[in-house]
Amino acid sequence: MSGSVRAVVLEQVGRPAVVRELELIEPRAGEVRVRMLASGVCHSDLHVRDGEWDRPTPIVMGHEGAGVVEAVGPGVTSPRVGELVALSWLIPCGVCRSCRRGRIWECPDSPSYGHTLLDGETAFRIDRSSGVRSYCAIATMAEASVVPAAAAIPLPDGVDPGAAALIGCCVTTGVGAVLRTAAVPAGSSVAVIGLGGVGLSVVMGAVLAEASRIVAIDRLSAKLDAARSVGATDTLLAGEDAAETAATLGDLTDGGPDYVFEAIGRPSTVELAISALPVGGTAVLVGMTPIGERASFEVFPFVDGARRIIGSNYGSAEPAIDFPRYAAWTLEGKLPVDRLIDRRIGIEDVEDAFDQMRQGRYVRQVITF
Ligand SMILES: NC(=O)c1ccc[n+]([C@@H]2O[C@H](COP(=O)([O-])OP(=O)(O)OC[C@H]3O[C@@H](n4cnc5c(N)ncnc54)[C@H](O)[C@@H]3O)[C@@H](O)[C@H]2O)c1
Ligand SMILES: [Zn+2]
Ligand SMILES: [Zn+2]
Repeated sequence: MSGSVRAVVLEQVGRPAVVRELELIEPRAGEVRVRMLASGVCHSDLHVRDGEWDRPTPIVMGHEGAGVVEAVGPGVTSPRVGELVALSWLIPCGVCRSCRRGRIWECPDSPSYGHTLLDGETAFRIDRSSGVRSYCAIATMAEASVVPAAAAIPLPDGVDPGAAALIGCCVTTGVGAVLRTAAVPAGSSVAVIGLGGVGLSVVMGAVLAEASRIVAIDRLSAKLDAARSVGATDTLLAGEDAAETAATLGDLTDGGPDYVFEAIGRPSTVELAISALPVGGTAVLVGMTPIGERASFEVFPFVDGARRIIGSNYGSAEPAIDFPRYAAWTLEGKLPVDRLIDRRIGIEDVEDAFDQMRQGRYVRQVITF
């Protein structure tokens, strides 16, 4: 055992997450122990907490984290002890048809989705006989975590740990949705619906893509200010009437944005994204709904106008390539990731953070250890 660590544990979905003292195993072959420095609170954590996705419990939460490698198991050559790493919530299985085509972000058989280490062992223990799973095999809401070495991606020196944590999920998801999934051409008009950590990362990606117009949409005006600070050219407060929002968006973008990114995960805003498309426009769905939700749209104009819908998982990322790239852009000032972090909290504040998130109050809350 590596000793005991404090960790945020979801014992039962729909019930409050609690801080527990757990035993952490020593890293074995192919594993590393990461002393966590920061973990973002992503809406995906809230989906899990609220039981909107089916996940096994008890489980140590968190999938957006960064820390320093403290120990490596036998045979591990990368990462090295002392390196700053961001953790990837998706390790490809390597053998499925998506992995064989090099499209690892699609991998449906990722061992990460077993929420254990690669051989099914749990990194955390309550006692000798009962283990606690690790969300996506990385469990970032813990003072330290033992993870597969492949999930720990070294970053260049000097990156702020909070920014490094966000590269582990929202930055890669949002920036990658623009640059990789949609490959938005320079000069395109873009709209982004929902301005949390993911949506604002889409805005930052659209700036890097040299979009001509970036319209940021949210139901809260504070989020519009945040979007302007990372490069949105226009903002739009979403009211109750989706048709009115779509019409105003059309006025701002010469009939509709070439690309609309949905970064909330609600059927109503998915439908708004599709309804706002001009002829030839593309809706990129990034937000994740509760499992089982459906959205609908009128088929004839969609087909007649050659419109498109694309789903984007993890920003079509290859973490070993994209994490260091996004980190370097952060250091160069091209990705102002620090502007996304507007509240730093302790490990015991996670339930409060979830409450704030339900109200949309902060852009990104980050646990610092
Ligand atoms: N595709 C992926 O790989 C991936 C990765 C990470 C997160 N996600 C998903 O992305 C979504 C966003 O995550 P986040 O952490 O940025 O969430 P968040 O809760 O921080 O942000 C959501 C934003 O949407 C706004 N909003 C909510 N309802 C609205 C409405 N009806 N109209 C306009 N604005 C509205 C809120 O005010 C808030 O600013 C979640 O569903 C999350 O699970 C997807
Ligand atoms: Zn996330
Ligand atoms: Zn695979």
